[in-house]
Order: sequence, then structure tokens, then C-alpha cells
Amino acid sequence: MALAEFLAELDDLAQSAAAAFQLAADPHALEAARIEFLGAKSGRLKAVQKGLGKVPGPDKPAAGKRFNEVKQAIEAAFQAATERCAASKGPAKEALRFDPTVPGVRPAIGHLHPITQTIEHLKDIMGRLGFTVADGPEVEDAWHNFEALNIPPEHPARDPLENFYLATAGRAAGSAAGDGLLLRSQTSTVQIRVMEKTRPPVRIISLGRVYRPDKPDKTHSPMFHQIEGLLVDRRVTMADLKSVLRLLGMSYFHGDVHIRFRPSFFPFTEPSVEIDMQWQGRWIEMGGAGMVDPNVLRAVGYDPEEVTGFAFGLGIERICMRQHGIDDIREFYENNVRFLHQF
Ligand code: FA5
Repeated sequence: MALAEFLAELDDLAQSAAAAFQLAADPHALEAARIEFLGAKSGRLKAVQKGLGKVPGPDKPAAGKRFNEVKQAIEAAFQAATERCAASKGPAKEALRFDPTVPGVRPAIGHLHPITQTIEHLKDIMGRLGFTVADGPEVEDAWHNFEALNIPPEHPARDPLENFYLATAGRAAGSAAGDGLLLRSQTSTVQIRVMEKTRPPVRIISLGRVYRPDKPDKTHSPMFHQIEGLLVDRRVTMADLKSVLRLLGMSYFHGDVHIRFRPSFFPFTEPSVEIDMQWQGRWIEMGGAGMVDPNVLRAVGYDPEEVTGFAFGLGIERICMRQHGIDDIREFYENNVRFLHQF
């Protein structure tokens, strides 16, 4: 080993040892550093010392002299660190100790969007009622968004003015409106996807974004979120539907809500209702619901003579707005940090 190489190793060792002793915050750390550098059997100083024998004869005196200097310097650094550790009984040592009883400081790392918080809250309540979460794609085909939901091709709900169709190759070639893919207009699509894959009983919720070319105003946004619920089993009745929805509303708003059901129409439920909640002295529409239409059960291969079911779809923004007293849905999507910080 050349002299220069040996001396470089020594210098490197001296620096590393000084830094390690300096950084050792308590006697345990210092002892670990001592063993690493000054350990009698396998310390790093010992390992470097072995290189001394490989330095050419004429260079040995210089190498030996430098080795002794470095050894003394490392031992002195260790001694100084030992004294420092022993002396530091005061605040410096206190500061290094971890006290698990001191209350934590919440770091400013942001938080969940209010809509996400509402989604989590709804999942939690429905989970306790035995509903599991199912997912479906946001880009849908006509079968799941319309056909299987008892919405035939000539139905006005399929009009291109009412939906965001994608310019797929099929449509570009001039196929009939409604044949192509679209951004789903309702989470009811997931009912079909789940029933196609599952035999009854079914008890799911699905939460996610839906898209409609609605003119934005205080209660409408072209993109919003829905929670869909579906329960199919033997002898499910409208009373079950109303109980679950009332329980959901009462749990979410801690009892502070009035809910009413109005007769309505949806192609995929019969009978159908609209659900309103009272807010600031008026009724605001929260969602739609009903008993799953036998045609829908047949479309997924279920026997309507054997099973019945209920389904509902609620606007998540409206629920969140009522909870926080937000009177304009557009606030959610303007990325105004001062607004978002409040939740
Ligand atoms: C539906 O979407 C049905 N799929 C609901 C349903 C499911 C009925 C299962 C029966 C069985 P509707 O179009 O009414 O229904 O929308 C449901 C809710 O979504 C509305 O009550 C409202 O709260 C919310 N909503 C509708 N359009 C918008 C919009 N543009 N912006 C914000 N929320 C909206």
C-alpha cells in the first residue's frame, strides 16, 4: 500500500471519528461510536492499523508517526465527548430527551377536501349498516348508463344535450346518438356492474363523480358527486328503504334534519321517490330512490319473483353544503385556499 493511500485513510478516519463523537447525544450513542472507532477487536482504527504493515519499508517511519498522531487525536476526541456528556445535565440534555407526555403539535400539512370528508363520513355510517363500497368507471357505455337501467334509446335522458358523450370512433362514423361512451351521468351504473357480477343478496354503496351539462348555479355543477345505495334480497320493501335513508340522514346530521319523501319517477325504480331535506326554512332536493324495477333485475339475470331491492342516489355536495352552511356549490371547485382552510 502506498504511503499516500495510507495517510488518506488515516485522515478520513480521523474526520469520521471526530464527527461521530461530536454528534453522540448521550452515553449510549457515545459508547456505540467508541466501539466503532476504538473497538479493540474490530474497530476501524484497528483495521487501518493493519495497512501499516503493507506500507513499503522506507515509508514505514512516517506512516507509523502519523498513525500514532491520529490515534491520539481520536482518543482525545472521545475523552472530550465523554466529559461533555457527563457535564450536560442541564437544558441541553433535557432537550435531547423525548417526552411522550407533551401534547403533539399538529403540523400544517393540509387536510382533506370537505367533499372527501363527507364521502368518508357517509362510508362510515353506511359501513355500520352493513353496506360495502363498490366502484365503477367514470367513462361508461350506454348499456350500464342507460339500457340496463330501463332507459331505452329513444328516451330523452339519452339526448346528447343532456350528456357528455365522448367522440369515439363509432360516433364519429355517424352511429346513432347514445351508442358511444360517455362520462357517467349517475352512479346508478354501479348497481348494474355489481349485480352483473354478484348473486343476491347484494348490499353496496358506491360514491364518486358524475357529469352532466347542467348550467352552473348555486346548487348545480357540471361535475358533482353522488352516493348510490343498493340492497337486493328476499322481501326487501319500501319501508326498509325509508328506514335506511332516515338513519343515514339522522346519523350524518346528528339528529338535526327533517327528511321528506315525494312521489317521483325514475325508469329504473318503481315506485320512485324524491328525497328532500329541510334547510334554512325550505326543502332542498337531496336525491332520488325507489324499489328496483323488475326490468332492471331481469336485465342482470335476477328473478324478480324471488328477490326485490331498493336503490337510492344522493347528491353529496348538497349534503356537505347543508352540513357546513355553504350556500353556493361552486365554492367547492374554485380552489380558494381561504375557503378550504375552514374545514
Ligand atoms: C339520479 O341521479 C338517480 N340516479 C338517483 C336514483 C338512484 C334514483 C337510485 C332511484 C334509484 P337525480 O338526477 O335526481 O337522480 O340526481 C340525484 C341527486 O343528485 C339530486 O337530488 C341532487 O342532489 C344531485 N344533483 C343532480 N344534479 C346535480 C348537479 N348538476 N349538481 C349538483 N348536484 C346535483
